[in-house]
Amino acid sequence: MDKVISEPKPDEIKVLLHHQYQTRDTLSPSTVLPSPLDQFHVWFKEAVEDGKVHEPEAMSLSTATSSGIPSARIVLFKQLDSRGFIFYTNYTSRKSKELSENPNAALVFYWREIHRSVRVVGKVEKVSREQSEEYFKSRPVGSQLGAWASKQSTVIDEDDLTRRLKEVEEKFGDDVPLPEFWGGWRVVPNEVEFWSGKPSRLHDRVRYLRNEESSSESPSWKIDRLSP
Ligand SMILES: Cc1cc2nc3c(=O)[nH]c(=O)nc-3n(C[C@H](O)[C@H](O)[C@H](O)COP(=O)(O)O)c2cc1C
Repeated sequence: MDKVISEPKPDEIKVLLHHQYQTRDTLSPSTVLPSPLDQFHVWFKEAVEDGKVHEPEAMSLSTATSSGIPSARIVLFKQLDSRGFIFYTNYTSRKSKELSENPNAALVFYWREIHRSVRVVGKVEKVSREQSEEYFKSRPVGSQLGAWASKQSTVIDEDDLTRRLKEVEEKFGDDVPLPEFWGGWRVVPNEVEFWSGKPSRLHDRVRYLRNEESSSESPSWKIDRLSP
């Protein structure tokens, strides 16, 4: 087997693996759809239908404080609507606090098995309570109770979560309402980049930038190829 990391030393890791990427198709400004949301729809469907991509809905979400200190974590993409990318979370979590003071956010999807990635930069808005309610109701009861039990991102003692879970189980049984502190955020994009892996690191990159004079309600896009 190939050596994948250097000989262990206590203070360093060097990754020696060098994967080659090769997507079948050519990605270029002339082959993509005029709207990045439509293009994302096509790529996401292909990632799901490929069958080999593990959790294609997993994406990194980057946020920043009002003074610009960044943080990132993985969340699950749950819906694409005519405005943007929706995920669900606790509104008192670290990410939500950062999004409330600074609405700028970035997403990255990486679909390793098909050598594709998508980057999004935009501003967030909360989805309507009705929309959050509809999604919350579709979740398994265990996850609904979990949303009530977890004061996401706060420091807790070892047995706090078990105790809180028991409390909410006893309180709600199987009929769990949407907590006020829980719901969806929509990332409305200003920029979306599609990346397709190619040999020798000469990857295809196509970037959509929202034309500044166009509104986020009815965006028009400038589409360019970027150097890898
Ligand atoms: C595969 C995966 C999916 C996740 N999905 C979500 C999600 O949809 N919503 C969420 O709030 N946290 C999700 N998490 C947990 C987050 O990564 C993170 O731990 C949590 O949201 C707290 O982040 P914060 O303290 O920055 O707010 C997921 C983690 C992983 C690894």
